[in-house]
Formats: sequence, C-alpha cells, structure tokens
Amino acid sequence: MKLKMQKSQVLLVAITLANLSISNISSAQTFLKKHTNINPYHYEVVKEKSFDHAAVTSAHPLASMVGAAIMQDGGNAFDGAIATQFCLAVVFPGAGNIGGGGFMLARKANGELIGIDYREAAPKTASRDMYLDEKGNAIASKSRDGALASGIPGSVAGMISTHAYAKLPLAQLIEPAIEFAEFGYVITEREAKGLNAEKANFLKNSSAPSAFTQKEWKAGDTLYQPDLAATLKRIQKSGLAGFYEGPTADMIVKEMEHTSGIISKEDLKNYHPKFRKPIEFDYRGHHIISFAPPSSGGIIIAQMMKMIEPFNVEKMGVNTEASVSLMVEAQRRAYADRAEHMGDPDFWKVPTKTLISDQYAKDRMKDYQPGVAGSSKVTLAGQVHESEQTTHFSVIDKDGNMVAITTTLNDTYGNKTIVAGAGFLLNNEMDDFSVKPGVPNMYGAIGGEANSIVPGKRMLSSMTPTLVTINNKPYISIGTPGGTTIPNQVYEGLVNIIDHKMSLKAAIDNPRFHHQWIPDVIGFESDFPEETVNALKAKGYTITKRGRFGRMDGVQILQDGKRNAAGDKRGDDSVAGF
Ligand code: GLY
Repeated sequence: MKLKMQKSQVLLVAITLANLSISNISSAQTFLKKHTNINPYHYEVVKEKSFDHAAVTSAHPLASMVGAAIMQDGGNAFDGAIATQFCLAVVFPGAGNIGGGGFMLARKANGELIGIDYREAAPKTASRDMYLDEKGNAIASKSRDGALASGIPGSVAGMISTHAYAKLPLAQLIEPAIEFAEFGYVITEREAKGLNAEKANFLKNSSAPSAFTQKEWKAGDTLYQPDLAATLKRIQKSGLAGFYEGPTADMIVKEMEHTSGIISKEDLKNYHPKFRKPIEFDYRGHHIISFAPPSSGGIIIAQMMKMIEPFNVEKMGVNTEASVSLMVEAQRRAYADRAEHMGDPDFWKVPTKTLISDQYAKDRMKDYQPGVAGSSKVTLAGQVHESEQTTHFSVIDKDGNMVAITTTLNDTYGNKTIVAGAGFLLNNEMDDFSVKPGVPNMYGAIGGEANSIVPGKRMLSSMTPTLVTINNKPYISIGTPGGTTIPNQVYEGLVNIIDHKMSLKAAIDNPRFHHQWIPDVIGFESDFPEETVNALKAKGYTITKRGRFGRMDGVQILQDGKRNAAGDKRGDDSVAGF
C-alpha cells in the first residue's frame, strides 16, 4: 500500500492493484457502466471528507461509494443503506453479510424514529442445554464453529423491511452487489490476510470448497463470487422468497447436514424482523437515540452517560487517570446489569425504564469513590424492582434522514461455513446466548436466565447503532463493531465529541479502553497513554493491553450543513458522498 497526502489533507491509501481496469466492465453491468467513477479494480480508502449533500461511511470503500451513488441517483438514506449492506456482503465477507443479522436505526427528517431488529433467532429445535456435554460443561466449539452455531439469518428480511422507507426499486439497490460478486473486485491486504488465516476453517466447516478457498490470497487479487451473485439475483428477482424459500433455503438446510446444524425450512420461512422502540435519553444538551433490546447497547450507553453526567469530564481531560477511572466505574456498573437484566424482551422482562432512569444512575454511583479502584466482587448487578465481528455503517442524506446500521456474523467470517452453492457465510450468533449461567461467551461476557436459549428467542447483542440530535435537528450517525466493547466505544466516542469537543475523526481515532464488569480488568489499546495506564495500575486496577478494538464509523452534520464523514483508522473504513 502506498500512502499519499492530497491537497485537501484527506489521507488516501492507494491500493496497488492487479492490471485490471474499468474497461473490463461488461455491458451486463448496468450499475458500473453508469458509475464509471467506481472502479472495483482500483479504489482508494478515504478516511475523512465533508460533502455538500449526503455521505456514507462504511468498512469498505466500494460499499461507501455505492451507497453515495445510489443517493445521487435519487435514493434517500434508506436506499443508500440497503445498497451498502448488500455490497458489504460481497466486498467485506468477514462481517458484511446476508447470512447474519443486525439492527437498523433511523431518524427520518420529519423526526420519526424507526428501529428494525433483524437479529438472528434460535431455531425451533434449539434448546437451553444444546451446547453442554453430558456432564453439563459448555463446549465452546459447538456454539462457535459450524452450522450448529448459526441462528436463523435476519439480514435479508431486515433490508426488505427497511425498503418500506426507501424510494428506489429493491432490484436497483441489490444490483451493485451482484456486479461486484459476478465480475469481481480486488481485495485489500487486510482481506487477503483474513481469508488466508481462515482457509483451513472454511474447508473444515463447509461441505464444499468455495470462492474463498481457491488460492492463497494477496492484496490486489481479484475475488469472484459467482455462487453469491446467483443468490443475490434470486433475492433481486423474488425478494424474501429468494432467500428464505426455494433454492437458497434448500442450500442452507442442506449445508446443515455437514456439521449437525438445525435450521429448517420452516425456521427460514417463519423468520420476521421486528420493530423496536428506540432507547432515547439526553446528555449535556444532546438527544441520543440508540437500539433497544435485544441489543444491550442503547441501555448500557444511557446508563453510563447518565452515571458520569454529574461530573466535569471535560475538566478531567481526555484519557487521564481521573476521566478513565470515572468512566470505567460506570462501565463496571452498566455491564453488571447487562449480565443480569438484559435479553430478548419478547422472552424476558427487561426493566428498561428503571435501568435508564436518572434516579437509578444516581443510586448506582452512590458507592463510587473518586480515585479508588472498584471491584466487581463488590459491585454486582443493581436491584431492579420494575418488573471482532461485526460491521457498522452510517448514512445521512440531503434531507437530513439519518440511518445507522450495525450488522454481524458474530465472529469474523461467522461460523466459517460457506453455504455450498449459495456462496455466503453463516453466522455463529448462538454463542451470544448464555449457553450456561456464568460461562463466558467468546467476548468473555456472562449471562443467566435473561439470555438463555429458547426456540425463536433472539440472543442478547451489544450492537449500538446510535443517532444524535441537537435541538431536534439531525447531528450524528455513529456505531462500531467489537462484541461487548461496542457500547463502551460508542460511549467513549460520544464523550470525546460532547465533553472534549473533538472532531468526529479525532473522537473515532482516539485510543480506547474497555471494562465489562467481569473479567474485572481494564483493556487498553496499545497506543493508550502509558502515564494513565501506570497511574491506574498503581491505584489497584488490573490492566491488560489489547491491541486495537473496533472500527468506528460516523457521519455528522456540520454547522454549515455539510456532511462530515469519518472512517476509523483501525481498518479499511472509508467515506464517500457528494
Ligand atoms: N455478535 C456481537 C453482538 O451482537 O454483540
């Protein structure tokens, strides 16, 4: 990769590509023929840029460019988001998906809020102890590898429900993804490494070799996915039935046989997204809107921000001992509540109203002592009497419609099972259930009855697609992948913007920390200020260095009305707009 700084100070990463050019585009490609500025064989990562009308930030440059182009063709933010999601399923196979699920959060320009839950659901024959051995011990590989780890995929149904708010035909929104799958696109170094690292797992967990396993990959190679193109064409032609019935459903069910999966044709046909009323709260003059259960994200960020609001965080400074210890103690308390009180609200009464109330936040912080390390043995879940991998993208259009979507296969490349003939990866979302009370999932998160496995139930998530308004006007769309670190990343990002007055890009790139109650450890990114880490260690906190986590993406409306888009330094995340 070659780095160069443009006049506009936009950092561009020019990817060294194969000797392919836009002239390879065939006449069958209606989208790429029209949008000659989008070249799947030569594209750049743009980390930050402001646009006059509309913008998208996503995990991949091609997906962002497609979302922007669709809006330029007359679509709104919903059109842009749908096209981006289908595109990510092709160009970002590690997390972009049609075999997973997610949450779509939107605020229309008229102020209407929409929350579509297209989280995966447990199959009909799933059972509480399905991942335990005869002695009652959890077998981690069963909820993580292969078809048995899959929940019923929700992404296609989620996008079709989202389409009710869009302006352009669904077929037009799926077309760019089909063209990238059929005629190929060049992969980045990061993607090449990811595919090579998982090759053995893909071959072990899938019933047949796939597009991903045909070679050892290097940056600049072209990846063709003809099976996925055919699946996308079936969705393009038949909508829901193109995925949940007919040949695609047959192929998913057949793939189950290879690793004892249990998703049936009936499960697929019966899958429906659900509308959820978003979580809303105020923080220092900003109105924050985020996702409700079965995501824990919205409640957790509401709790944490309310717990720290009485303190002068700005004065404490960015990533200082004082601000980090305060924010960690809020994290400890909110994540303890996550483990005890949160699950699918259709199966478990989540005490949302209490958990996000001002009084509850105040009560939870009563035993907080500034400068003293707390303990998760002492701080348990509150008494409530009211009864790496995922991907996020943000879109804001010219009218001020804002969309935030976080979508996931759970682990990177999900359960590493590619549905034979259909060309897409399945999720391993069942691991997000509490397979046994107190047994940690792959993110080290524990849970209990609230998040136990029940047929049809949706596993608790941490995904936190979030929107912000000021004075009832659209302001920010933001979110990130990262398992249980997600709510903490969004919380820290918003505090960086609101308390520390950072730009969106600086807030996103700022080094992060993470505490999730149990384990009682603060995880710091490797570039976190040493002085703070050492001071917290001296106070008695247990600390660990975690490399980097998350890839936060956002779009913000600036005071002059421009759409400022920012992609995380941590990935190939890239912005586009017009
Ligand atoms: N699979 C990660 C999450 O939903 O939190």
